[in-house]
Amino acid sequence: MRDLAGLDGLLARAGWSERPLAVLDLDAVDANADDLLRRAGGTPVRIASKSLRVRGLLDRLLARPGIAGILAFTLPEALWLVAHGARDVLVAYPTAERGALRRLAASPEALDAITLMVDETAQLDLILDATADLPPRTGGRRIRVALELDVSYAPLPGIRFGALRSPVRTAGQAVDLARAALARPRLQLVGLMAYEGHIAGVTDAAPTPYGAAVRAMKRLSRPEIAARRAEVVAAVRALAPLEFVNAGGTGSLESSAAEEAVTEVAAGSGLIGPGLFDRYRGFSPQPALWLGTSVVRRPAPGVATALGGGWIASGPPGTDRLPTIAHPPGLAFAPQEAAGEVQTPVIGPAAEDLRVGDTVWLRHAKAGEPAEHFSHYLPVQGEQVLDPMPTYRGEGLTFL
Ligand SMILES: Cc1ncc(COP(=O)(O)O)c(C=O)c1O
Repeated sequence: MRDLAGLDGLLARAGWSERPLAVLDLDAVDANADDLLRRAGGTPVRIASKSLRVRGLLDRLLARPGIAGILAFTLPEALWLVAHGARDVLVAYPTAERGALRRLAASPEALDAITLMVDETAQLDLILDATADLPPRTGGRRIRVALELDVSYAPLPGIRFGALRSPVRTAGQAVDLARAALARPRLQLVGLMAYEGHIAGVTDAAPTPYGAAVRAMKRLSRPEIAARRAEVVAAVRALAPLEFVNAGGTGSLESSAAEEAVTEVAAGSGLIGPGLFDRYRGFSPQPALWLGTSVVRRPAPGVATALGGGWIASGPPGTDRLPTIAHPPGLAFAPQEAAGEVQTPVIGPAAEDLRVGDTVWLRHAKAGEPAEHFSHYLPVQGEQVLDPMPTYRGEGLTFL
């Protein structure tokens, strides 16, 4: 792991004194990519772009053998990525963007590269309605769609673990939706996705009764998912030759990739190693993204205040959504201000030693969200500081 005590000096020698500054450690990203590929055991890994939101980083990763395609989060994002050369983009969430659908339907390159996600006939109808006045098949191509299957765990009525995503749970429901897609001549059914977020995205290493309960839930859920996914995939394959079956995320690569029905796995967060991914049993990504803020005032003994902050992760509010203070050691957030807004006071023994101009290094709890706060990431590799990489926002784009 990078020596944060030396990071300020390295940046200063390269002429980078501005703060806040987001430093991307490419050595850590590369090591994390190696580990994701190892854990996937030969199953291709599709990169979840929402966990990166930096085109230069996506390109770097897509150049690696074993990494195949992008899992995008919106159709406008997918269209933009294709305009910049992406060739295989699965949009992980349904879209109701009529303008973007029209742009897709009118572009042979986009029709070749992009697959939309659907889980009910209303979405199929909306796609057709939005594009009704366009030629039925631009360049002879149809609009590619994939079905999303819900693989949340519902062991008893009223008890459910997993994100509220697709209403399609059974082979019968999947077959009905597949038939509905196949009946619409503008559409082509090419794949299936089933994301087990309650396994991939829930930390499980806590040595507490809660941690034990999460581990038990995951143990019980995995075989149920494998059986249902296999049954649904077989039923849909009987109707249409699927190009791919996508599954999993950073926290479930081994179990997702082990299923015969799964042809590719998705991952993104594990490349960055944000705070929420510190507490998994089976793997430990290296932290790759450091957010530097500078101390600008010392309002009281034992307190130093940095300019910047407020970098709270999305999801149910809780202390696990706060950034982690990575360096110097021995600092904590002030309880009444937490990670701050425009400024962030830090307290603790080390705060006494901080001086105006010193850097406090933070890590975000989530992988992709810092890219919405920084126009560029500054990549470092070994002792080299490379040219800044623009984030999506730095390229002038915010998709959500
Ligand atoms: C459909 C889907 N697959 C996979 C992932 C996993 O991404 P990550 O590896 O960044 O946790 C996500 C993230 O939310 C997702 O929505």
